[in-house]
Amino acid sequence: MLAPMAGFTDAPFRLLAERFGALWTVGEMVMARSLLRGSAEAHRLLRPHAREGSRVVQLAGADPEEVARAAQVAREQADPRAIDLNMGCPMPKVVTRGAGAALMDDPERAARMVAAVRGATGLPVSVKLRLGFSQVNAVGVARALEQAGATLLRVHGRTAAQRYGGQADWDAVREVARAVRIPVVGTGDVRNVEDYRVRRDLGVGVAVARGAVGRPWFFAEVRGERVGAAERRAAAREHLRLHLAWHADRGEVWALRAFRGHLKAYLRTAPAEVRARALALERADEVAEVLGIWVPGT
Ligand SMILES: Cc1cc2nc3c(=O)[nH]c(=O)nc-3n(C[C@H](O)[C@H](O)[C@H](O)COP(=O)(O)O)c2cc1C
Repeated sequence: MLAPMAGFTDAPFRLLAERFGALWTVGEMVMARSLLRGSAEAHRLLRPHAREGSRVVQLAGADPEEVARAAQVAREQADPRAIDLNMGCPMPKVVTRGAGAALMDDPERAARMVAAVRGATGLPVSVKLRLGFSQVNAVGVARALEQAGATLLRVHGRTAAQRYGGQADWDAVREVARAVRIPVVGTGDVRNVEDYRVRRDLGVGVAVARGAVGRPWFFAEVRGERVGAAERRAAAREHLRLHLAWHADRGEVWALRAFRGHLKAYLRTAPAEVRARALALERADEVAEVLGIWVPGT
């Protein structure tokens, strides 16, 4: 699976991951309240792409009824296959509002949210969680979410207090998987095919986030397919093309700036001065040319 990343997993990147074999992708986090208030940005994040198969909308919020209403809006606008609830985000501006990972400390409210969203939309509801907020309590939370009707759990093997520090604890993810009957997918620190195999052999699903940035062919590699240099360069250029088309209404300069995180990752093995020059380019044809030369072959 491709795990969601705000600022990265927009429709073009999700499409590419799907083409390389990702079974499931999830859109960027949308705050339920922003959506209900009519925020243009929140509505923009929901836009469905006609060629996307997965179409999973991720919502975050604190109040179960409010999130359920936002899920209805999302269903009408985006025709998603499922709603994914964010109970894992550790950012202060999210948790201080009682949303994201703050829900790990309130399993009863977390469970009500799952039930409310299911009831309001009739759609499958998956949940992204952490091992806990500051104490590890994911097994208890997972059982409550399953009971409330969640269909899949994606567990980041760190507490919210750990943010992104230290190592993700996949043994703890496996414990969650053993405690419930619904599928459990782990996330955290999968960077290469070997990392993937070790986690898969624990008997849990595997989602990858940062390891797929600048490497959408990761999903083909874990299936044992070889993706050569020419195919990688073509994929990076196709990503740029899809990205420019998807964000065309904001203009080329805006779209190229929004592509920089991806570009930096595609050029990770290029000399520093090539990377610096590429990141300052303001013309798409020049960026395409750089990708055609510098995306690494292996
Ligand atoms: C830049 C960035 C943005 C993220 N945005 C989201 C998000 O919107 N929703 C979410 O559930 N997780 C989000 N995550 C967490 C990832 O989905 C994933 O759980 C985490 O990065 C650990 O996996 P990894 O080591 O494969 O990156 C984000 C992570 C990063 C690095």
